[in-house]
Parts: sequence; structure tokens; C-alpha cells
Amino acid sequence: MPGAIYAEGLVKTFGDVKALDGVDLDVPEGTVLGLLGPNGAGKTTAVRCLTTLLTPDSGRAFVAGIDVLKHPNEVRRSIGLSGQFAAVDEYLTGRENLQMVGQLYEMRAKEAKARAGELLERFHLTDAADRPSKTYSGGMRRRLDLAAALVVSPPVMFMDEPTTGLDPRNRQGLWEVIQELVAGGTTLLLTTQYLEEADHLAHDICVVDHGRVIARGTADQLKAQTGGERVEVVVHERDHIATAREVLSGFGKGEAAVERHTRKLTVPVTGGAKLLAEVIRELDTRGIEIDDIGLRRPTLDDVFISLTGHMAEVREEEAEVEKEDAS
Ligand SMILES: Nc1ncnc2c1ncn2[C@@H]1O[C@H](COP(=O)(O)OP(=O)(O)OP(=O)(O)O)[C@@H](O)[C@H]1O
Ligand SMILES: [Mg+2]
Repeated sequence: MPGAIYAEGLVKTFGDVKALDGVDLDVPEGTVLGLLGPNGAGKTTAVRCLTTLLTPDSGRAFVAGIDVLKHPNEVRRSIGLSGQFAAVDEYLTGRENLQMVGQLYEMRAKEAKARAGELLERFHLTDAADRPSKTYSGGMRRRLDLAAALVVSPPVMFMDEPTTGLDPRNRQGLWEVIQELVAGGTTLLLTTQYLEEADHLAHDICVVDHGRVIARGTADQLKAQTGGERVEVVVHERDHIATAREVLSGFGKGEAAVERHTRKLTVPVTGGAKLLAEVIRELDTRGIEIDDIGLRRPTLDDVFISLTGHMAEVREEEAEVEKEDAS
């Protein structure tokens, strides 16, 4: 039984760029899939293919059990997509915009009004609710657009970088709304540049690069794949690196790695805090002064870097958006 979002062998080429090079996805109903990948990996292209905005060159896709290529109109009726369908009318107030969306989806006026009020509060737009949305700052518009996508709870939702450019408070607000939606049975595909967000929200994660899925699993599975816990030590003196390395290698699962210019040594270990205490004692016995020591577990950032060879980056100009907020 394929999931609520299902894709098989999606290929999409733009000129000589293979934006999607055979992508398979299967998202079980009521779960969140986090689609991660560096800029240009193909995330938006995948979302656009799945939401009928682009036709793939080849492959198949089903959303809510409906064939995306054969029945695009039906698919459009069962999905929500932030940033695309929600056409915010500049001359209407924020509140009017949200109520209008509700009425478009045949909500009763009273219900639409209540939902609008709730979402305005959620996204901290209550104070600005009754002025025309053309007076909103960049971050406020973005929030209104997200709110508009959330007026009704469709069975399947797509969100392409929903929190890029939101300040931490509004990001938290969106996370809460998402969690409620999913608890109510909505299936969500989310792309994000914030790995912490994927860690927090996604049941499963797909890492894409150059149009291909290069890793998939839960956040914990991906972290385990990247390597378990490590002890990191920064020694005070460069002359102590060799001895420290000998000590650490003795405790580790392998040889300690050295970064000379920062005087940092890293070794994979098992044994947690107890082992850490032993390492500290042994270094002390050998007369090695340390500036810093710690036990590190891999984060999703480590996973991302080891898989794609570079850091997730947040586009500067988008991160700036929220700063324009006057409220
Ligand atoms: N309409 C288009 N015409 C030409 N090339 C395109 C078009 N849309 C996407 N591409 C190219 O396809 C590749 C994948 O782009 P896509 O927007 O899907 O990446 P992304 O993973 O969403 O990146 P980002 O993290 O920057 O949003 C890129 O090389 C991009 O330049
Ligand atoms: Mg994109």
C-alpha cells in the first residue's frame, strides 16, 4: 500500500540540468517527511512535480492515492501548499484574506471567522489584522501566506521552506500548528534548510543532492550511520598533541584524528560519560593540560555535512526578511 505521498523514478530536466534524476518517495499517511539537501539539490522541483505545478519528464506520482499526472485537478483539491495557492489580496486586511480562504473552501462564515482569528493569533498578526495586507512587512506577509495555507486542513500538505525568514518566536508558532495538523491526520512533506527543524518535526528524512536521494531514514538512523559518539579534546599546548593522541587512541574505537591549528583531537568512542571521566583522569596523570573536553553525539548537521560535503546554508537575504518587521 503506497503512502499518502508516493513517487517513483521522478526525472525532471531543465536544459542540461538534471534537477531530478530518479527520485523515489513514500510518505506514510499521517507522518512528516523532511526533504533536506543543499541549494539546487532539487527539493523545490520535487515539490512542484508532486503538486502538479510541473510535469516530470518521466516517473509516476500519487498524492492521497490520486495519480498526479492523470488527475491533476483532483490532486489540487486534496492538497495544501504554502506560498503558491494562497493568493493573498493586497487590498484586503489580513483577517479578510483568511476569512475569504475559508469561504472559498465552503466553510460557514462563523467557522471561517473563528479560524481566521485563531491563526492571526498564532502567527502574531492580531495587532495588524485589520489593516490592508499591502502595509505588511516581508515577514508579516510570509506569516499571512502560511496562515492562509492552514485555514483548512487538507489531507496532504506541502511546505517548501516554510520557516525561512521567520524569527524564532514565529518559527515556534508554526511548528505547533504543524504538529497539530499532523496529529489530526494530515500528511506533510516539508523542505527546510534548518536541520533542527527536520529533527524536531520529521518522522523520516530524505537527503537529496544533485536530484537524487542519497540517504533516507529517521533522524536517529541517519545520525547512527554518520558515526556514534566522540570525545573531543582541545589540549593547551601543541607539544602535547602526540601524547594526547596516544591516550585517546587507547580509549577510542579507532585512531584519534588531529586538527593541529586548533589543537583539537577527536576519537570515536563507546562508553559515554564514564569513559569521559577516565579519559580526563588519564590525561591528568600524563600531565596534559586541556582547554576543553566533551562528549559529542552527531547532530543532523554532522550527517548533512558528511553526506553532501557542505553545510546547510540559509540564504542571507531571506533571513533578513523578519528584521523589517515594525511590530
Ligand atoms: N525553471 C527552471 N529553469 C531552469 N532551471 C531550473 C528551473 N527550476 C530549477 N532549475 C534548476 O534545477 C536545479 C534544482 O533546483 P531546485 O529549485 O529544485 O533546488 P532546491 O533544492 O529547491 O534548492 P534551494 O535550496 O536553493 O531552494 C537547480 O540547478 C536549478 O538551477
Ligand atoms: Mg528550493
